[in-house]
Amino acid sequence: MKTDGAGSSSFDGSSVRVLELFSGIGGMCMASQRAGFGSVVSAIDINPVANQVFSHSHHPAKGVLKARNINSLAPRDFADVDALLMSPPCQPFSRNGNRLDLSDPRTEPLSQVTELLRTAETIPKMILLENVKGFESSDACSCLKEVLKSRGYSLQEFLLSPNQVGIPNSRLRYFLLAKTAVFSFQHSASIFLELPVKSAVPATDLPRLKDFLGEAFDRANSDLSLRLKSKDVERYLPVLDIVTGDCRRSCCFTKSYGHFLEGTGSIVSLNVDEPRPALRFFSPEEVALLMGFPPEFSFPESVTRKQRYRLLGNSVNVVLVAELLKLF
Ligand SMILES: C[S@@+](CC[C@H](N)C(=O)[O-])C[C@H]1O[C@@H](n2cnc3c(N)ncnc32)[C@H](O)[C@@H]1O
Repeated sequence: MKTDGAGSSSFDGSSVRVLELFSGIGGMCMASQRAGFGSVVSAIDINPVANQVFSHSHHPAKGVLKARNINSLAPRDFADVDALLMSPPCQPFSRNGNRLDLSDPRTEPLSQVTELLRTAETIPKMILLENVKGFESSDACSCLKEVLKSRGYSLQEFLLSPNQVGIPNSRLRYFLLAKTAVFSFQHSASIFLELPVKSAVPATDLPRLKDFLGEAFDRANSDLSLRLKSKDVERYLPVLDIVTGDCRRSCCFTKSYGHFLEGTGSIVSLNVDEPRPALRFFSPEEVALLMGFPPEFSFPESVTRKQRYRLLGNSVNVVLVAELLKLF
């Protein structure tokens, strides 16, 4: 593997061995495949439903997916790993989770990873971390960056959204890239608001939702179980973010989508010209596509719609993460 020229055209990621922590439904795993990285040698998550979906969609070799608590990770778990990809729980850093930062028990597994990065003899050459906007000003982030610098990593931070890589969806997220060599693109202490290698796609060039979603859009239009109840429409209409198939945007889908209506993601209007438009939720299939998952991604039958929205809302945008991985 080339370790100097990050993002250079000669970079061959195919031999990179990936460790995916907090693997959920495997968004990072899909991104690493898309970026041409080698195999995921280990994926670790404690959630049995997420692990079921990961197995269903990735068919990992025996022993790759581990239902394990990351608090129990040991230095040997970093042995033979080139790239560490992770999106730790975001509640300790989000408004809804009260921003308890390091005093929130849900930060413990990230603190354990930070401690291992401080002490382990063998450390990954590349690290990508994803979290909510706000993480960058947390103590957990400062601790991690301090440890990484002390171990000789070059760091670059980003605040990016999928609509900057051609996807009609907003999901502003913080990303930290760290590598044991220098990045080829010029970097500074500040947080990048654009990818260095590809300028943002103008909003007018984004595809229309119905074109981007294709047959999934038509399927969802005819699925009556996705329609909002009229009592909910009456009550929540003023706070809904309503889009049509001709729109080139949609709001971030959270894990509460389909359950709560306010601020959890956009709603589709089917007949805009009528005084009382028929409104529907985006289907989990559509949300997956807007999260950059490939069309062949699917859930096991046994996973409920509510669980699907929850898992997708916790995941990452695959296309955006893949673009970031290419910077290594
Ligand atoms: C933000 S989600 C990451 C989702 C993932 N990137 C994806 O594509 O689906 C955080 C994940 O961390 C897992 N998790 C939280 N605490 C954990 C722990 N102590 N040990 C292992 N996994 C944990 C949760 O089950 C959840 O799937």
